[in-house]
Amino acid sequence: MIDLMTDKVTPNDREKHDEGRQGEAYAPFVQDPNQYQKRFYIESYGCQMNFADSEVVASILNQEGFGATRNLEEADLIFINTCSIREKAEQTVRKRLTEFRKLKLRKKGMLVGVLGCMAERLKSKFIEEERLVDIVVGPDAYRSLPELVAEASGGQKAVNVLLSRDETYADISPVRLDSNGVSAFVSIMRGCNNMCSFCVVPFTRGRERSRDAASILDECRDLFEKGYREVTLLGQNVDSYYFVEESTNRVITFANLMEEVAQLSPLLRVRFSTSHPKDITDEVLHVMARYDNICKYIHLPVQSGSTRVLQLMNRTYTREWYLAKVDRIREIMPDCGISSDIIAGFCTEEEQDHLETLAVMEYSRYDMSYMFFYSERPGTLAQRRYTDDIPLEVKKRRLQEIVDLQGRLSFESNKRDLNKSFTVLIEGDSKKSDQDWMGRSSQNKVIVFPKENYPLQKGDYVNVQVTDCTQATLLGKIIA
Ligand code: 5AD
Ligand code: SF4
Repeated sequence: MIDLMTDKVTPNDREKHDEGRQGEAYAPFVQDPNQYQKRFYIESYGCQMNFADSEVVASILNQEGFGATRNLEEADLIFINTCSIREKAEQTVRKRLTEFRKLKLRKKGMLVGVLGCMAERLKSKFIEEERLVDIVVGPDAYRSLPELVAEASGGQKAVNVLLSRDETYADISPVRLDSNGVSAFVSIMRGCNNMCSFCVVPFTRGRERSRDAASILDECRDLFEKGYREVTLLGQNVDSYYFVEESTNRVITFANLMEEVAQLSPLLRVRFSTSHPKDITDEVLHVMARYDNICKYIHLPVQSGSTRVLQLMNRTYTREWYLAKVDRIREIMPDCGISSDIIAGFCTEEEQDHLETLAVMEYSRYDMSYMFFYSERPGTLAQRRYTDDIPLEVKKRRLQEIVDLQGRLSFESNKRDLNKSFTVLIEGDSKKSDQDWMGRSSQNKVIVFPKENYPLQKGDYVNVQVTDCTQATLLGKIIA
């Protein structure tokens, strides 16, 4: 049987994604060479938010006369949009920077800029440590890129890492980079107020703020008109979206926003990420259940299955509270897919805590999880308060047990889908063969199926019956 596992965004892919995808890293398409005299190259690491931010950066740079290129050699400006979430992510960026350095030494006048979370975390220290970095810009300072580029072109080092309480880039139309033309990410809020003790994000991305609802709806409408058929509403904690419309004083919650996006067209699929278990409400679940075009899939990171560890993580829910949320989702939407983020080996984690994590996974029957071992981050609450006391071998062994269990759960979940049929949104050719389509079910599972002779194209919906599966992918056949 053909192995089609590569079509799925597996935990492995996320890890690659997180820690960088060199070679095939995210570099934008080449824009019309006649329209732009200067060229920028951008590579993104980390979460989807970073990838969405790079599209905002591309828009700002286009305005300044810089066109995107995939070819490093012809770039006047190289940007790397960085991630600080785990130490390994930062190491990958540093390695990549040494490669850019070689290029810079060969090419006079070329500028290298560091964007995103690592820029925010290290600030001007970056320039002291990496002398060939010319520009350092934090996630809330992209509007100042034109001035910073000008400054750096004049030979000065340029840094702006100011965090903002209200910047959402609401009025900037992102330039879609490397898009399949079918699905797009739409940022609805920035920052995070949660202060999970392991997490560096509240320090690198600042306070939480919600983007103007009208601008979100405009962006989604525009995407639909351009042929896109799926939007993923993005935020660190989407369920705490809160916006007051100035003209009417109307409060718009995440449930309201999602409903309004869903009403744009029944042909536009709506997804969202990420939900915090403490914030996802029944109202959100009921809106999801009411609209066929809101995908039945929730990413609901548990992080740990032990109430004691959850408390140290400052997650503000207990194991029981989490499990009740899973029950509630299944009660309201029996067919809803659920996935999770899990951290192995957080400070003080004992074998019993680890077993409780495995038990929560089993109970929740996750379709998929992103799994990590704990990596202490400078400045976080955990780093200041607790000792990173679990030996690396123990962290790795526990992580492996989590990965193995998830492998079994994913396979079981896929086997439950055998013979069922799903409406699939076609995203493009399967990676393995241009004779096969690849698309996703509402539950976010990748389905690969032969094109046969049907006159279909990407962006179309088609009913597919599942005939076979691997741990990571469903295989199917079009139902006429
Ligand atoms: N160590 C390991 N994993 C982490 N995450 C966040 N911070 C850390 C850390 N310090 C994981 C969490 C989060 C996901 C995006 O990354 O599981 O949900
Ligand atoms: Fe980090 Fe927690 Fe905020 Fe997610 S919710 S970004 S894990 S602090």
